[in-house]
Amino acid sequence: PLVPTGELVTRAAAARAAVAAFNVITLEHIEAVIAGAETAGSPVVLQVSENAVKFRYGRLLPLARAAVTAAERAAVPVGLHLDHVQSDDLLRQAPDAGFGSVMYDAARLSYADNLAATRAAADWAHAQGLWIEAELGEIGGKDGRPPLDAHAPGARTDPDRARDFVAGTGVDALAVAIGSAHAMTSRTAVLDHALLTRLSALSVPLVLHGSSGVPDEQLVAAVGEGIAKVNVGTALNVAMTGAIREFLAARPEAVDSRAYLGVGREAMAREVGRIIGVLSRADGG
Ligand code: G3H
Ligand code: ZN
Repeated sequence: PLVPTGELVTRAAAARAAVAAFNVITLEHIEAVIAGAETAGSPVVLQVSENAVKFRYGRLLPLARAAVTAAERAAVPVGLHLDHVQSDDLLRQAPDAGFGSVMYDAARLSYADNLAATRAAADWAHAQGLWIEAELGEIGGKDGRPPLDAHAPGARTDPDRARDFVAGTGVDALAVAIGSAHAMTSRTAVLDHALLTRLSALSVPLVLHGSSGVPDEQLVAAVGEGIAKVNVGTALNVAMTGAIREFLAARPEAVDSRAYLGVGREAMAREVGRIIGVLSRADGG
């Protein structure tokens, strides 16, 4: 069934566990995430990013409708989340499109502007009954830009600022910059576990972005240290594209798109199950 994302994250945070949130681009991604979560018997979050909407010719509804329908029929609880929203126009489409939550991303702005824009977004979202996540510090590697120097001052989330930001904006969860970066195709990120432990004193659940680049052991540790939502996108594309590349190399005569999309979908579903399995190792020790 389709459930509010906030419920899944709140329940995970209370149990010192984390819910996995996967970015979906195509119908095959949606099917693979749900199949993987059903096999694992775990709740999951389907995320549609602003970039995915841009890929779909700027239209949210085709993918959103497919995600809502798949979630409603799923055998496990599924949250639907609009991810990395910068456009106010897109933000305002979220409730009617079936989303229970949004991530409003104003992290590119100065601290004061991020705070003001996020507070306005949070006020609007709460009036609509939406759960809202925001970002402080800057998690690198968005929009094809190189990952920021993980040690650059200002790139990491400052704990004192984070306390002010959460109080000043009223957001329900905070995406923290602790050493991960988006779009990594190898698991070589090094998380700042001491910083994460300090941030875990905040009054809201913490979200890890760029989780595709984080080694399994560090993911397990991060959940124990306060991460309650783990965002994964690139790892699904690595699985899908690798499987399709291998299939087509071995079968140059193949033309039916179902053959290779099916192989790609299976590979994604296995990766979803694998990541949920890694996170479950943090669950109750
Ligand atoms: O918001 C989405 C995530 O941060 C995904 O990052 O594609 O590097 O796993 P990733
Ligand atoms: Zn992200």
